[in-house]
Amino acid sequence: MDYPIIDKPVPAGGWNLADYAAARRDFDWQQACRLLDGRPGGINIGCVATDRHVRAGRGAVAALRWLGKDGTVRELSYGELAAASDRFAAALQAAGIAPGERVAVLAGRIPELYVAALGTLKAGAVFCPLFSAFGPEPVYTRLSRSEARVLVTTATLYARKVQANRARLPALTQVVLAAGEAPDTLGWQAFLDAAREPLRPVSTGAEDAALLHYTSGTTGAPKGALHVHGAVLAHAWSGHAVLDLRPGDVYWCTADPGWVTGMSYGLVAPLVLGATLVVDEAEFDAGRWYDILERERVNVWYTAPTAIRMLMKYGAEPLAGRGFPALRLLASVGEPLNPEAVVWAERHLGRPFHDTWWQTETGAIMVANYGAQAVRLGSMGRPLPGVEVAIVRRRRDGGLDFLADGEEGEIAIRAGWPSMFRGYLDEAERYAACFAEGWYLAGDLAVRDADGYFWFVGRNDDVIKTAGHLIGPFEVENVLMEHAAVAEAGVIGKPDPYAGEVIKAFVALKPGHVADDALRKALIGLARARLGPAVAPRELDFLPELPRTRSGKILRRLLKARELGLPEGDLSTLETDSDSARS
Ligand code: WT7
Repeated sequence: MDYPIIDKPVPAGGWNLADYAAARRDFDWQQACRLLDGRPGGINIGCVATDRHVRAGRGAVAALRWLGKDGTVRELSYGELAAASDRFAAALQAAGIAPGERVAVLAGRIPELYVAALGTLKAGAVFCPLFSAFGPEPVYTRLSRSEARVLVTTATLYARKVQANRARLPALTQVVLAAGEAPDTLGWQAFLDAAREPLRPVSTGAEDAALLHYTSGTTGAPKGALHVHGAVLAHAWSGHAVLDLRPGDVYWCTADPGWVTGMSYGLVAPLVLGATLVVDEAEFDAGRWYDILERERVNVWYTAPTAIRMLMKYGAEPLAGRGFPALRLLASVGEPLNPEAVVWAERHLGRPFHDTWWQTETGAIMVANYGAQAVRLGSMGRPLPGVEVAIVRRRRDGGLDFLADGEEGEIAIRAGWPSMFRGYLDEAERYAACFAEGWYLAGDLAVRDADGYFWFVGRNDDVIKTAGHLIGPFEVENVLMEHAAVAEAGVIGKPDPYAGEVIKAFVALKPGHVADDALRKALIGLARARLGPAVAPRELDFLPELPRTRSGKILRRLLKARELGLPEGDLSTLETDSDSARS
């Protein structure tokens, strides 16, 4: 059997459900994997994304079209991207970086980030992107835990977020600056020039580590989710089946590569499928975004509900006189997609948004209102062919009860899809706690209807989703606790019409400290400086003391219920919930 992702064109008018039913029945990830790479045994995301196109005579096609903040445009063809990433990989080899070692990037959306990512993969090293809006604290935690050997960044970000902690990062032997200069660092060109030999090809297998993405749980430090080269198959398949990406398409993903969406669908899937990737360096701006959609003739657009709500906020005025005839498919991820946003897009952009559901841990889209189907308004859609999803409840004995259609429970995915994370870095127990009876438990609550569509209900834990970014309350509480006046801190997500949730902190003070506005400002200021504005609380209230479970954990759910004026519920249940295995 052949696979649509490799060589079958998308039928005119798109896919229909019968095709998908057949594909799901016959799906063999292993065979598709071999077909995708064309070589027996090995597979490498960097090579599949670039070299494969060059071999097929598509080297001159534009791979990346970079739109700088200042209006500069830089275009790299597949051939150029293949050569540049080869060179970066050779430079890593010259620097003594062995397969499996980690290379991190802390940078905005600049071309060097894409070259470094692909080059790292080609060298068999593990690529670890860091969100450039993180403050020094989250950057340090992640660099240190991943024992990164090389960091690619800019002089500005280095000075603000890394330099002060450099001495505490013994594994970090090389800092490469894509822009600017600083002591104890190498310039981008100097780093590349140090490679006197061409790249010695590295043979990676489907199960070799490729990407390390940090994500947050309710407790403890952030978790490093490890992904393997074989994941590329899921990126390619979902990019085709859900995003309907075709060779030569102009494709724009607004997610930052510091998060999983920005890698899986802001780099891997579109390049593997031969699209031209638009990369915008600038932050959100309604006028600029419409300009990009219109002027670049974007065919497929992948963005997030917060961004759509921001566009809606600006209303119809910035849309006046524009048209988007090239737009074929709109998709969204990261938070609940409100039906108004879908309807609004259909009216103003000419197409509805297709919701997609997945996580850092799943590596690729698992459930979607995929391209071929009419959107079922308000639902996340159906599982992809090859992906088996159930709604379950964990029993006390650790087993699972599989729930009927219409019943609310936790999303579970049968283990074994190619982009499934293969571990949390150095945390085997935490990883094991995510699985039961051969199923991965996602920590999200949902309902499946009689037609097999999934409806999102909420999170099963205390993590916060703000502007599509997953924030662990623990990381925020830790920084607040560093202040001399703070005795305890509890952090929740408070509903917000645009960002979904904003971060709100509750703080109890040590004796002798006064809860006043100056202290509130000082605490928020501390959090912003250490964590970065995207992670710092926007609101902060003082309380005489914080509610805790008998075992001493802060009852964030109770804080949230009180904040929202909801019934406080049964405290004994709250206690059991917050003690649940998956954190
Ligand atoms: C969490 C995963 C995978 C890319 C996003 C970032 C929430 C994701 C949806 C959706 C409602 C969604 C879930 C999930 N989420 N997609 N379509 N509707 N909620 O991945 O940072 O690991 O976050 O985002 O709560 O568990 P992530």
